[in-house]
Amino acid sequence: MSPSYIKTFDKEGNEITTVGLDRFGFDSRVPLDVLRSLYLRSHYIISNNDTKAIVNLSDKEAEAEHAKLSSGYTLFQPTSIYFPETASVSYSTLSRFPPVKLLPLSQRKRVLVTGGAGFVGSHLVDRLMLLGHEVTVLDNFFTGSKTTVSHWVGHPNFELVRHDVVEPFMIECDQIYHLACPASPPHYQVNAVKTIKTSFMGTLNMLGLAKRTKARFLTSSTSEIYGDPEVHPQHEDYWGHVNPIGPRACYDEGKRVAETLTYGFQRQDGVDVRVARIFNTYGPRMNPYDGRVVSNFIVQALKGEDMTVYGDGTQTRSFQYIHDLIDGLIALMGSDESRPVNIGNGDEFTIGEFAELVREIVEKVQAEDGIPHQKRVEIVHKPMPTDDPQKRRPDTTRAKQSLGWQPRWTARMGIEEMVRYYKAKLAEGDL
Ligand SMILES: NC(=O)c1ccc[n+]([C@@H]2O[C@H](COP(=O)([O-])OP(=O)(O)OC[C@H]3O[C@@H](n4cnc5c(N)ncnc54)[C@H](O)[C@@H]3O)[C@@H](O)[C@H]2O)c1
Repeated sequence: MSPSYIKTFDKEGNEITTVGLDRFGFDSRVPLDVLRSLYLRSHYIISNNDTKAIVNLSDKEAEAEHAKLSSGYTLFQPTSIYFPETASVSYSTLSRFPPVKLLPLSQRKRVLVTGGAGFVGSHLVDRLMLLGHEVTVLDNFFTGSKTTVSHWVGHPNFELVRHDVVEPFMIECDQIYHLACPASPPHYQVNAVKTIKTSFMGTLNMLGLAKRTKARFLTSSTSEIYGDPEVHPQHEDYWGHVNPIGPRACYDEGKRVAETLTYGFQRQDGVDVRVARIFNTYGPRMNPYDGRVVSNFIVQALKGEDMTVYGDGTQTRSFQYIHDLIDGLIALMGSDESRPVNIGNGDEFTIGEFAELVREIVEKVQAEDGIPHQKRVEIVHKPMPTDDPQKRRPDTTRAKQSLGWQPRWTARMGIEEMVRYYKAKLAEGDL
């Protein structure tokens, strides 16, 4: 499967060939194909030989096999070999890094990305690296993984630091994207006190750094600060409806106090701040087992397992594709908008409808790849978790007016790309 054959169309039916925007003197556009080569093509050669093959497979044979999977980008990917019989993998190093823009020093930013080895962070890192900036990732690998950014390790513009943001950190930088915080309920609830510490102390430390270095600071807030909203859709002036003592409070209240801190530093110390209120986002590199609905559905459907809907499925959600979010974050960082900005996709689905859409797309991709039709997976219902909001949809008027940003990816296009990503991962034995 070569991603260059996959055509993607936006909401108006125009083909998407680049992602990114040219806004506020910061051009973040990169070809979609180049970006895809970093996550969609298989990084593995699957070998049917036993482990002796490591020594038997010549470099040339290995390269030929790898080229089949990564035509055009072979040089820029590690040629690791997966052995299904022993479920082991032999990693190689890159022969060459993916080409990055050569920016003049005056335009090159030194960017710190906390949580840069996570789902959102790694996609932001890819974009900033391809654009030619210098990127430092700070991550304690609680939910993130080195593998999400391993294709940049060793690059002269890139640094990966294992560090917990609860502890202070000093570095010279021009911009800070503060993303470090577990984002899925099972992860942020497993150690609620740590989640609050990460939200509060992590944000305090990074704001202190921004104050000292005069870096622009962007914090990744969330639609969860609106709680179970009484206003629909949610606009930025709505104060929210959060249960302060429920099981989700460590995250929701942690993010609320992180916003309070951010504006405290702005008022008291003149720190240049940006606040992105991110709504449900999905895309490749999401952990499929962390209870987030899109990845859950796709992996269940691909494995032929029942798809689990919590409650009766009438609760609504809107889902945004990762590339739209990264466009929005970069535009916000470049803009003069220091008020909170919702970044999300307003297309609303009931969870039941969404499950059906995923099932249909998985069947379509399987058919395109020549996999014979199997029994249709069932959609089953389980009890609703505590404090799960009934409705969530962003009002993105501010993002449109201040940033000239609006989502381009339809759910259908995003899901299709993600299905292909997980399908390759399953085939590689990586899920
Ligand atoms: N994905 C979404 O739908 C969504 C929605 C709203 C807000 N957000 C916010 O965006 C940010 C990134 O979310 P994500 O989906 O990429 O989650 P993720 O769990 O994939 O990534 C979070 C990253 O932060 C790291 N991290 C956690 N605690 C840390 C600590 N104490 N010190 C250093 N690193 C730490 C993790 O190891 C991981 O790499 C989070 O702040 C999240 O709250 C995400």
